[in-house]
Amino acid sequence: MTRPLILALGADHGGVALKNRLAAMLLEAGHEVRDYGTDGPASVDYPDFAQAVCTAVEEKHADYGILVCGTGIGMSIAANRRRGIRCGLVHDVTTARLTRAHNDANVLALGARIIGEEVALDIVRAFLGTEFEGGRHERRLSKLNQMTEPTP
Ligand code: RB5
Repeated sequence: MTRPLILALGADHGGVALKNRLAAMLLEAGHEVRDYGTDGPASVDYPDFAQAVCTAVEEKHADYGILVCGTGIGMSIAANRRRGIRCGLVHDVTTARLTRAHNDANVLALGARIIGEEVALDIVRAFLGTEFEGGRHERRLSKLNQMTEPTP
């Protein structure tokens, strides 16, 4: 797929099955997976898992984060409140590629109730296989950084 990466994974009850499927695929591809839960079907709150994964990425314990909930929306809202996080909510391979190439996204959000498993696997492969293009996009990322307050 790509060079071996350390990936932080998190999900709520709506995303746990897909998160586990992604973890298996990533391990099989030779990556290291740090699984921040949840682990079962009991109802939980997605911000708790977004928080754990985003902290791992911001503190460089992981190269990228992958967050899964029912729609991906809650996870992406939560993740993008963090100063060091650029989270792309993605439903297809093209936006998976472009959120890395143009936005230098360091977290991927997926909606397990919105996309199928095969699409999700392809999205993750495209996301991890694409480098940031830099150039004009650097200036835009600098402006994004100016818009965020430091995380308390
Ligand atoms: C949980 O029912 C659901 O609200 C959550 O998984 C997510 O879709 C929120 O954005």
